[in-house]
Amino acid sequence: MKTPITTLAEKFKAATLKAFPQLEGSPDLVVELSPSTHGHYQANSAMKLAKPLKQNPRQVAEALVRAIGTDPLIDKLEIAGPGFINITLSADYLSQFVDSVIRDPHLSIEIPQKKQRIIVEFSSPNTAKELHVGHLRSTIIGDSLARLFEFLGHDVVRLNHVGDWGTQFGMLIAYMKETAPDVLSGKSTTDLTHLMTWYKAAKAKFDADPEFKKRSQQEVVALQGGQPDALKAWGIICDISRKAYQEIYDLLDVKLNERGESFYNPMLPGIVADLEHKGLVTVSDGAKCIFLEGFRNREGNILPLMIQKSDGGYNYDTTDMAALRHRIETEKADRIIYVTDVGQSTHFQMIFEAGKKAGYYDPANTRIDHVTFGLVLGTDGKKFRSRSGDTEKLIDLLNEAVVHALAIVKERSPEMSESEQQHLAEILGIDAVKYSDLSSHRSSDYTFSYERMLRFDGNTAVFLLYAYVRIAGIKRKVQADIEEVKKKGKVKLEHPSEIALGLHLAQFGEVLDALARDLLPNRMTDYLYELANKFNAFFRDCRVEGSPQQDSRVLLCEAVAATMHQGLTILGLKTVERM
Ligand code: ARG
Repeated sequence: MKTPITTLAEKFKAATLKAFPQLEGSPDLVVELSPSTHGHYQANSAMKLAKPLKQNPRQVAEALVRAIGTDPLIDKLEIAGPGFINITLSADYLSQFVDSVIRDPHLSIEIPQKKQRIIVEFSSPNTAKELHVGHLRSTIIGDSLARLFEFLGHDVVRLNHVGDWGTQFGMLIAYMKETAPDVLSGKSTTDLTHLMTWYKAAKAKFDADPEFKKRSQQEVVALQGGQPDALKAWGIICDISRKAYQEIYDLLDVKLNERGESFYNPMLPGIVADLEHKGLVTVSDGAKCIFLEGFRNREGNILPLMIQKSDGGYNYDTTDMAALRHRIETEKADRIIYVTDVGQSTHFQMIFEAGKKAGYYDPANTRIDHVTFGLVLGTDGKKFRSRSGDTEKLIDLLNEAVVHALAIVKERSPEMSESEQQHLAEILGIDAVKYSDLSSHRSSDYTFSYERMLRFDGNTAVFLLYAYVRIAGIKRKVQADIEEVKKKGKVKLEHPSEIALGLHLAQFGEVLDALARDLLPNRMTDYLYELANKFNAFFRDCRVEGSPQQDSRVLLCEAVAATMHQGLTILGLKTVERM
């Protein structure tokens, strides 16, 4: 079914034309609706229409209300203040809506008429380095946006833009040739922790030892020239890193397709030539740059996008220009979403601006968003560091969340078997980490606290799962076979708490639309938190088991469970049936 707000907007548009036929085809034909606590929605268009119609807004509102007349969807229309129209939907309509939710595997959410191809680029760590908490945020937020668009029926491409290319590999290979030749030849293997240690040592040696520096530079040349030994060594380094990343993605249940920076390598000379050909390139101190209006550093100097260094090398900017073009021209993206920390905002604004100038994309046909997020802070208010100090290993952090969850589970559910407790803790721990990230507005910094994220009350994953489990419990208690109840019964909302819950369920599609527009996952967490609260109110006020309304109420519970499950799935959270 269409969302209530869409249905109302259509009704109001028709009513506006009926009352004021002179508005046909006019840009003044506005319909403005918003959810409201006075009634269910509010229409504000009378105020906007008053001027072009040369009438007072109250008169306009009265005419609109008359034009709508009686409607089975609407229980009440009330004019308030200067001309706001407060709308109360009918219990019949909301009952029908909820009923349609439980009878449709897609929860009565409409599939778009035209599928879009949407690229979501997220996570994107740098080879030979551990993922850090910033990459964790990117992974969690990006995955949830990808899940949203997948559910909405779009064609989603999940890309991991791994930083797998660059001059740093020269020194790492040179260093490993000396200290770990067996790893480079594939005779023995190692893990990312060792790789990082070598990487740091290599860097120090590079700065201190001119001979080593020279050897490193030769390795870079060999690698860029595609020399087989160098490529093999690089491949081994990538594999070791990949294995460590995959362990984290598995733990988080995140799917990603690796398409690192190296993928775009062959395209870079062509990109530079193309940008030069289009007259966008200026040579400055030997480097090829694109200067764009409006991008300046703190000192007020113009910031260039550097697409080729004076030594002929390409860099981050060049790769991103190539990636943008490839995503539009080859991948045929209708929409591209980049998820990184807010520190990269200027970089992306410049890439997008240069991409527009080069004709790689037209904002009228392709929507591109840089989805940014703030820092992860520790409970001390400083940038997050794990207990071990400077090397914050993400895998440790996730495992520690599970350990914290296990302690809570053991305390609250001592009757469970150990394996059940462990299973539950694995879900709760990871859910808690994801939810606490997604529930804070992504542009603000967020505080990482195991204690807070695992609380049983308030806006937490645990609180929501608890509500979800409660519903499963009700179903068990009334021993309802949902399929049977669906056959013989229908949802009929009567009690104000049922109606409030029904309205909220009907608004799920509105939240999905808003989320698709502004890409703020906390809209979904807010929605689900509210859903749990409204469900708890209903459960407090309305008896389910043994009441004359048992069938309708069981079905209402089923709609809540299905909606909550879907909402949590979009956030990347797993649900449990008992806890
Ligand atoms: N590898 C980068 C980092 O760790 C993030 C890459 C973001 N994506 C991009 N297309 N530049 O900071």
